[in-house]
Amino acid sequence: MKALLPTLLVLALLLVTASEARAAKCWSRQDQGSTLQVFHVYSPCSPLRPPHAAASWEESVLQMQAEDKVRLQYLSSLAVAGKSVVPIASGRQIVQSPTYIVRAKIGTPPQAFLLALDTSNDAAWIPCDGCLGCSSTVFSPLKSTSYKPLPCSAAQCKQVPNPTCDGSACGFNLTYGGSSIAADLTQDTLTLATDPVPAYTFGCIKKATGTSVPPQGLLGLGRGPLSLLSQTQSLYQSTFSYCLPSFKALNFSGSLRLGPIGQPKRIKYTPLLKNPRRSSLYYVILRGIKVGRRTVDIPPSALAFNPTTGAGTVIDSGTVFTRLVAPAYTAVRDEFRRRMGKAALSSLGGFDTCYSVPIVVPTLTFMFEGMNVTLPQDNFLIHSSAGSLTCLAMAAAPENVNSVLNVIANMQQQNHRVLFDLPNSRLGVARETCS
Ligand SMILES: *[C@@H]1O[C@H](CO)[C@@H](O)[C@H](O)[C@H]1NC(C)=O
Ligand SMILES: *[C@@H]1O[C@H](CO)[C@@H](O)[C@H](O)[C@H]1NC(C)=O
Ligand SMILES: *[C@@H]1O[C@H](CO)[C@@H](O)[C@H](O)[C@H]1NC(C)=O
Repeated sequence: MKALLPTLLVLALLLVTASEARAAKCWSRQDQGSTLQVFHVYSPCSPLRPPHAAASWEESVLQMQAEDKVRLQYLSSLAVAGKSVVPIASGRQIVQSPTYIVRAKIGTPPQAFLLALDTSNDAAWIPCDGCLGCSSTVFSPLKSTSYKPLPCSAAQCKQVPNPTCDGSACGFNLTYGGSSIAADLTQDTLTLATDPVPAYTFGCIKKATGTSVPPQGLLGLGRGPLSLLSQTQSLYQSTFSYCLPSFKALNFSGSLRLGPIGQPKRIKYTPLLKNPRRSSLYYVILRGIKVGRRTVDIPPSALAFNPTTGAGTVIDSGTVFTRLVAPAYTAVRDEFRRRMGKAALSSLGGFDTCYSVPIVVPTLTFMFEGMNVTLPQDNFLIHSSAGSLTCLAMAAAPENVNSVLNVIANMQQQNHRVLFDLPNSRLGVARETCS
């Protein structure tokens, strides 16, 4: 393995260079109206593709799973009111950031960025000129005629976490995954597809530590005060949907559709719940889970919504593999194992239910309030690169976090249209092949 590493690194670098050339081609299609192309960050179309992604599919999957742990810790720290969970860095250096990116422009004339989509965050932030610890793609406020820093007296300055006041300029500090950032609170024109949003409030990052910060910034699609939805209420009416491409088809893009126009009519809905203490998270009611046609036995307390403890189920775009609290995961997993009978069980990284023979469970159904979503195998089985091992692509919530939160993650959402309809407090899901 040690001898292989240099070779892999060289290979990774070559692939990165080739991918940069390819990336230009992928993004050449213009984003139309209020619909944006969405790429997986590991896609050959993504210039942000981390070098390790090139090593092997198996490595990438295990890497994504390791990153998920940091994400889960982070989400739990958002969800568990009054408790701040300190993110725990894993043994090795990891590059953790949400999984899907879109193209956006900021300023006049516009400067282009690939922003990570994050439905569990509100504010947008972008690395700015002079930033310590940021990547090389930064926003230059001096080159924009519409840029404006916000004063401490601005109303928005009360909506950021840990506001700071430096002279008269408003700023904020926050932790994100395993990183911390310090930013100025600023405004400029944000252009999404062909829609300009004047005076968009975002964080201009001046300092970043750790490796969780998406290299070119983040677009918060949460539901709290500074999110895209809150800042574009008249334009998009707090409505958006996405279809995330499968990471088995990395060349393909999905889409992010903003606003009520063009959203699917034939779609099933479940109510969206609000947790006033954690306003950015999208909570839903998960009533049960079926493995094939059998409803597994999950104690109701494992699925119950509790705004005080933060317990319940959230839909998240940034976690890769669904995590269930231990009693729920164990029930699902045990049913898989029961179905597999005497077939030899093995594990791969953090996946504990893997087989070298085909898994006989054809579907998995999430039973949400008012909506059953039946997933095909592509949404819950992961195959190792050699094709020799197939694993149930879910896990129990990490043990070192306050495990009360079930997270429906992006692998389980791929090739589905997921519609966030806030005016009607509901979440829609329909199958759609977008890759
Ligand atoms: C915010 O972060 C900056 C840069 O790391 C630091 O100098 C400052 O003390 C922090 N402020 C607060 C209030 O934590
Ligand atoms: C992705 O695109 C590249 C070139 O653009 C091509 O070589 C490769 O075969 C494609 N992969 C898939 C899975 O379609
Ligand atoms: C979901 O499936 C369960 C079990 O099969 C069934 O009882 C329930 O009525 C279904 N719910 C909806 C909304 O179709």
